[in-house]
Amino acid sequence: MTIGIPANYSFDPMDPALLRDPYPYFEYLRSNDPVHRSHLGFWVVTRYEDNRSVLINKAFGQGDFVKNIQLFYGPDFDVMAHPAYAWLSRVFVMQDPPDHTRLRNLIAGALSLKRIRAMEPRIRSLARELLSKFARGEQGDNFIHGFAYLFPTMVMCDMLGVEQGEFSDELLLDLNNAIADTFPVFETRALSATELDQADRQMAFLTSFFDDMFEDRRKRPRDDLTTALVNAQDGADSLTAEELSTSVIGLFGAGFETTAHMIGNGIYLLGANPIERARLIENPALAESTTEEVLRFESSLQATYRTALTDEVIADVPISAGERVLTLVAAANRDATVFSNPETFDISPREQKPLTFGGGIHYCIGAALARLEGTVFFEELVSQYPKFQVNTESAQLRRAFLFRGYQHLEVALLP
Ligand code: HEM
Repeated sequence: MTIGIPANYSFDPMDPALLRDPYPYFEYLRSNDPVHRSHLGFWVVTRYEDNRSVLINKAFGQGDFVKNIQLFYGPDFDVMAHPAYAWLSRVFVMQDPPDHTRLRNLIAGALSLKRIRAMEPRIRSLARELLSKFARGEQGDNFIHGFAYLFPTMVMCDMLGVEQGEFSDELLLDLNNAIADTFPVFETRALSATELDQADRQMAFLTSFFDDMFEDRRKRPRDDLTTALVNAQDGADSLTAEELSTSVIGLFGAGFETTAHMIGNGIYLLGANPIERARLIENPALAESTTEEVLRFESSLQATYRTALTDEVIADVPISAGERVLTLVAAANRDATVFSNPETFDISPREQKPLTFGGGIHYCIGAALARLEGTVFFEELVSQYPKFQVNTESAQLRRAFLFRGYQHLEVALLP
């Protein structure tokens, strides 16, 4: 038994102790109950190999969306009456083939390694500009909103073709908040009435914002991803108006919500680990492996999930068709059978990749972009502001399980 964790422990994503520090719980489950049945009605897998095998196994897919959500609320809950859940049901990460394949293929080209590499100079100049604004005190002292969100959001705006002169700081903040208020629908739990109401209202705001943009691109086409997707509506791929709106909102949100917290978690970890910080300042070429280690050690997306499409077995435990499995990639990332000294934050390159970007047909389509943003950020941080200070004492975590990161993190950028 791991100290302080009872032998009859049952996983609950809202347990305040788990939210504060999930890693002792993950350790307990990996060692004692690797295919765990939560009292909430779903399975939880924590070992690296079990996570990987579920993610790549096509017999684990998305299944019946309405039933999956009703598991949290009860059978009378009218899932599709809620715009935020109706949206979620259409996002391609929630689809099985062939719809998943068709929608993913439409977007994959825009995020190819070649396209991403070509974006590097622009990404670097954005990072420099925003870091220097933050250093001058123009963005307040909370690094999460003053830089960590802004940077990947502006990269996504660039990709979608929203130009800098076309939005105000207020609009960006509204869009960030709308995604943060909507994305709790991904969590594996029932939302409170207030959370659900907020998610529904913010979904209406996002839909109307992007619908206006599509209308504009229909009249005035540009050389951007939005125009390409609007055009795909009429082509052989036949993207419906709803699919267009859903995909763009999903891509926009997925493009910054997890990346923002990769950056926030990363600067926090450097602040909390002076030896690793000194190594990175000494050798900025470690920026790439620092990004990888942040993704492994404190993954900003802790888990994803699948539904068994047929009767299956995971590590000798039978799983019935229709049952849900939470794949805890953040627990897999600390599996000692795969990573040496897994509980230590060490920015040296490691042989094994973390499972942070998932696996199989839903493997993160933005992984190359997120990795590049992380690498550019750490390089620019330590080469321009080597005396940066992080107030780890006053840092406040968000109250969310799936998307792990800080809501408040004071940073001073000093050259
Ligand atoms: C640190 C940053 C990121 C993390 C940790 C992350 C993590 C993940 C994971 C684990 C999945 C698989 C979900 C599943 O299997 O159910 C995923 C899928 C996805 N990600 Fe990311 N992601 C990140 C950044 C991005 C970025 C920058 C973009 C877009 C530019 C993006 C867009 C997507 C999309 C569209 C999917 C769905 C893919 C599919 O279903 O085929 N992500 N991401």
